[in-house]
Amino acid sequence: MLFDRFDLQPDDPLLALIGEVRADPRRHRLDLSVGVYRDEEGQTPVMEAVKAAEAQLVAGQASKAYLGPAGDVQFCARIADLVLGTRSGCQVAGLQSVGGTGALRLAARLLAVNPRPHGSGPATIWLAKPTWGNHVPVFEGAGLRIRTFAHTDAMGTALDFAAWLEMVERAEPGDAVLLQGCGHNPTGIDFTAQQWATLATRMADKGLFPLVDLAYQGFGLGLEEDAAGVRALVERVPEALIAVSCNKTFGLYRDRVGALLMTGLQAAPLAKAMAMAKALARGEYSMPPDHGAAVVRTVLESADLTALWTRELDAMRTRLIQTRKAIAAHPLASDLGLTGLADQKGMFCLLGAGHRVVQRLKDESAIYVAPDGRVNLAGLPLARVDDFLAGLASASRAPQPEMAL
Ligand code: LMR
Repeated sequence: MLFDRFDLQPDDPLLALIGEVRADPRRHRLDLSVGVYRDEEGQTPVMEAVKAAEAQLVAGQASKAYLGPAGDVQFCARIADLVLGTRSGCQVAGLQSVGGTGALRLAARLLAVNPRPHGSGPATIWLAKPTWGNHVPVFEGAGLRIRTFAHTDAMGTALDFAAWLEMVERAEPGDAVLLQGCGHNPTGIDFTAQQWATLATRMADKGLFPLVDLAYQGFGLGLEEDAAGVRALVERVPEALIAVSCNKTFGLYRDRVGALLMTGLQAAPLAKAMAMAKALARGEYSMPPDHGAAVVRTVLESADLTALWTRELDAMRTRLIQTRKAIAAHPLASDLGLTGLADQKGMFCLLGAGHRVVQRLKDESAIYVAPDGRVNLAGLPLARVDDFLAGLASASRAPQPEMAL
């Protein structure tokens, strides 16, 4: 029997926690695992701007006929504006994707179908580890060869920029490199403006191809500030791919909203890349689902809704920054190695704790973090910062040897 010959796959270790948390009867449970924003009451409400856009769509949408494999092209144009601002010298094409992950997968397929300009073997992508747990399956499944390098200290709490420059030396021209645009998942450590500029120039000189994963624009310092790195990059490289997710920034998680942007210096090669991306999308899923992208487009086409959305996003970011500051200033922060949190950005931080601590946090305090020790700070109410740190301090203490009776 065919089905019976499959190896039994474990659930994704991060997503499995969604069900585990729900099934945990402890009322004080704290879910800091999957990257979802929660308010002080622990809810993930639909944003007001999204509700208003949805109401407009319901009232005014005249047809649900197919749009084609590129999806909603006006949505893509608005996303290009949001990410790249007013750009000079660089041209942009883009297609709608199934969330940011779908954009990454499409980007990986584009890289994989392209013959390598140098050497032989499959197209290669360099991943800086630690990284989001799904990057490897997404790229490997698309047929890319993955090479990794460590980009932080052993705790995952300080950037090792020299390691990036070393990677550039070791990589072969034509290799792709994954960069995270802002709010690094899982470390929260972003490049400085100077580091973006240096890396972009070195990569361009070496002929490396950048793929940017941009899922948290607006969660770090602000919509413009968080896009500065990717903008500096595209100014310095001849071509780039940018996988954009709107799932977090518009709170549209389950609607899976994203876009794959391509930047280049000339229109003709971009048109070929776009045609290839559409052909690949057609073979993968034919056409993307419309609703979430239509909502985002409706928000971004209206000055009032954009202002409302921006205020809501600002409020989420402000809470996140307060949480980071509250943890960093807490009396337990120093012992737990968390004083650097206020200088990091976005939804996540890495505890640098081993599996044992992660397990004890769950067992003893009903605090759920990702299996790699990543904490979703956006899920932590300010009122529970004390509980979180007390639980972490307790889980980090070496277990007492059992007393002989
Ligand atoms: C996360 O990193 O927690 C989210 O992006 C959810 C996911 O798909 O892993």
